[in-house]
Amino acid sequence: MFNHDVLVIGAGLAGMRAALAAQQEGVDVAVISKVHPVRSHSNAAQGGINAALTERGDPWEDHAFDTVKGSDYLGDQDAIEVMCREAGREVISMEHMGVIFSRDDAGLLGTRAFGGQRQARTFFVADFTGQALLHVLYEQVVKANIRIYEEWFVLSLIVEDEECCGAVVMEMLSGDVHVIRSKSVIIAAGGLGRVFEPSTNALICTGDGMGLAYRVGAPLMDMEMVQYHPTTLKSNGALMSEGARGEGAYLINAKGERFMENYAPNMMELASRDVVSRSEQTEINEGRGDNGCVFLDCRHLGEKIINEKLLQIRDLGRDFANVDMATDPVPIRPGMHYQMGGIKTDIDGRTNVPGLYAAGETACVSVHGGNRLGANSLLDTLVFGRRSGEHAANLSKAISYKSIGDSAANPEKSILQEMLDREGGIESFGQIRLDMGIIMNDKLAVFRNHDGLEQAISKLLELRERYSRVVVSDKSKTFNTNLIFTLELGFMLDCAETIALGALERKESRGAHYRTDMPDRDDQNWLKHIVLSKGQDGPDIEYQPVKITQWQPEARTY
Ligand code: FUM
Repeated sequence: MFNHDVLVIGAGLAGMRAALAAQQEGVDVAVISKVHPVRSHSNAAQGGINAALTERGDPWEDHAFDTVKGSDYLGDQDAIEVMCREAGREVISMEHMGVIFSRDDAGLLGTRAFGGQRQARTFFVADFTGQALLHVLYEQVVKANIRIYEEWFVLSLIVEDEECCGAVVMEMLSGDVHVIRSKSVIIAAGGLGRVFEPSTNALICTGDGMGLAYRVGAPLMDMEMVQYHPTTLKSNGALMSEGARGEGAYLINAKGERFMENYAPNMMELASRDVVSRSEQTEINEGRGDNGCVFLDCRHLGEKIINEKLLQIRDLGRDFANVDMATDPVPIRPGMHYQMGGIKTDIDGRTNVPGLYAAGETACVSVHGGNRLGANSLLDTLVFGRRSGEHAANLSKAISYKSIGDSAANPEKSILQEMLDREGGIESFGQIRLDMGIIMNDKLAVFRNHDGLEQAISKLLELRERYSRVVVSDKSKTFNTNLIFTLELGFMLDCAETIALGALERKESRGAHYRTDMPDRDDQNWLKHIVLSKGQDGPDIEYQPVKITQWQPEARTY
């Protein structure tokens, strides 16, 4: 058994920021991650991180209002205020740690415009901002001597006397199962993008954190709110950063028209993501697209800007679509990108289970509500990662370890053995995962309706039943990825079910959740969060009011 005051699950930006903050509070911290930290999905974030700086004439309240409006008034305004107020400090502290942000001609930190915002307040490192932040945080974590259990997989959380006090984990190299005892646990395990196929997310984004929390009674909130990013490559769903539109790129249909004129005449291509994605899909559905896509047109930006600021996505276009954005429009379409919902927390990362915290995409604080603004996710990871780390550290100073031992791993060991002993069936994790991804993308994308949601729910029940018969063909212990992928699929099915049920429950259209059978926002009945807890036969549903501090809901146009 291992012991740490604070155990952080996940080594992306939220996890490492939490670990660093906790360590600075003077407690013993460890990070556990199923991949090497710099392979975390934060690495893939491209366009930037938002912060309003008063000294640049951009008060944080403006950022907060844009975020509230972007969320279609579902974001909790107390949390949004915290995030936007603390944004500048967080970005500057990353710069001081060593992030080499792109600069403007005057040598100051440069900004670019991002969707749904009235100011250019997105700080960036070309088109690989997440990678730059992640590597610097990793250096800091290594410098601080924080223990990293690298390539270890978390099987379950341990809850004793209703308090979270550790995790049952598997060292992937040996296949050995251990107990890590801790006084608090912070889940920062990222999103669930691969519940949908395709997705901009890395293959590791399988909702493990949400599944782990949900299984020990922590509720999930706003799970129906799934973001489709407007510019993903038609060929494989890879992300083509909003940074391109921030630099001035256009969206055009097959006739070469800048169609956003018809949907968001003021903000055009830089309307909020839900609005742009729906507009694109409408163009495609009404026959003005080109075989399932529209185009990102960067030709007028010129080679110099493209090479300085958008080189990574230029390469993505060349490598995966055989198109050079400097000379040709790139075929793109809306694609699953982000989960606005997640483990319900307060502004210090606390979940409903004492001792259990969550931060980053796995959590729902909720700052994104019905639709996240581009470049608010990196900010969310850092602000709420730090706050969770600080709070968890202080809790850990005040309490003792629970008296649990290695036997806490026994139930998980039995489940694994039962899974490995299963023989002879035909069900494999791969086919079930693909079937789930396809139904989710088919029925829970940009446009949804009652019948489609019912079909998705019944398909997911069938997949759940097939999962109970899944056979792990590799019986070995060393790096048994067959087993790991099968375990991940269990978490994915938990997440898929809560997304689909939440979407069926929300009888209106708001943010990214657009019901063709109920196209209007209904503040009278639905200005509230949907909260799902694990029940005997599937999720139990409750509601929670939206916290409004200073911005009353208004009609939302761009
Ligand atoms: O388009 C992008 O660069 C993505 C950024 C984000 O999701 O925040």
